[in-house]
Amino acid sequence: MGLDGKQVLVIGGGSGIGFAVAEGAAAEGAAVTIASTNAERLAEAAAKLGGDVQAAALDITDEPAVQAFFAGRGFDHIVTTAGDWGGPRRAALADMDIAGQAAIFKVRFWGALTVAKHGAAALSPGGSLTLTGGMIAHKPARGSAASTAMAGAIEFLTRGLAVELAPLRVNCVCPGYILTGVWDSIPAAQREARLAGLAAGQLIPRIGEPAEAAQAYLYAMKAGFTTGQVLYAEGGLALGG
Ligand SMILES: NC(=O)c1ccc[n+]([C@@H]2O[C@H](COP(=O)([O-])OP(=O)(O)OC[C@H]3O[C@@H](n4cnc5c(N)ncnc54)[C@H](OP(=O)(O)O)[C@@H]3O)[C@@H](O)[C@H]2O)c1
Repeated sequence: MGLDGKQVLVIGGGSGIGFAVAEGAAAEGAAVTIASTNAERLAEAAAKLGGDVQAAALDITDEPAVQAFFAGRGFDHIVTTAGDWGGPRRAALADMDIAGQAAIFKVRFWGALTVAKHGAAALSPGGSLTLTGGMIAHKPARGSAASTAMAGAIEFLTRGLAVELAPLRVNCVCPGYILTGVWDSIPAAQREARLAGLAAGQLIPRIGEPAEAAQAYLYAMKAGFTTGQVLYAEGGLALGG
């Protein structure tokens, strides 16, 4: 079961890991649609991907918009790598603004659930949905209790959805440290050393490439006997120091 001729939607496909998934799926012959909120960046990404890649503006936190997007559309596979990095990510428990921390769930958890709710009917028989978790669920850091819970919740959402939507398949990819634009917030002069420090304890002691994470999504789409699973692309972070 390959991707040649398949209709693949990558939400978050305008940048980072999602872009690499779109690139990989297109290279395998899929007809790819990338979607996210920033239409301008999406158009640039679609031009870079070339071929007949389509771009569609979509905010997965806007349920009526998600419903309207999927009405009349059909896909063989849906991937979401959508995630936002705004707002307070870390907060010591005593100082925690609960409403601010709740916002951490908005795109990655509630957005993913909204995509599942409205996207499932758009999937063809044998189709798949692939969500995106994060290694913070398995390697919590101080001040990241809410992010840890959110990333873990996505893995358990995957299991629930796999049962609910069967025989459609639902899986989750859990990336470790992957070199995307999200690290641009670290000043350039310090970035290399900071990233090397983060990866130093891993069994593969370097930051991963988006194309390496993308392999897990491509597998999840093609593996017709795999559902309810979490696939890790994390360089041995969990087993390393
Ligand atoms: N890179 C890492 O090291 C790493 C590690 C662990 C987990 N992850 C997770 O992997 C996912 C992808 O990360 P990345 O590094 O590829 O980040 P990224 O380049 O920032 O990609 C995130 C994408 O999500 C889209 N997006 C944000 N809000 C959206 C919304 N409301 N509706 C639809 N699309 C939305 C963004 O596009 P627009 O701005 O156009 O909406 C962007 O293309 C994220 O969920 C991230 O948390 C990444």
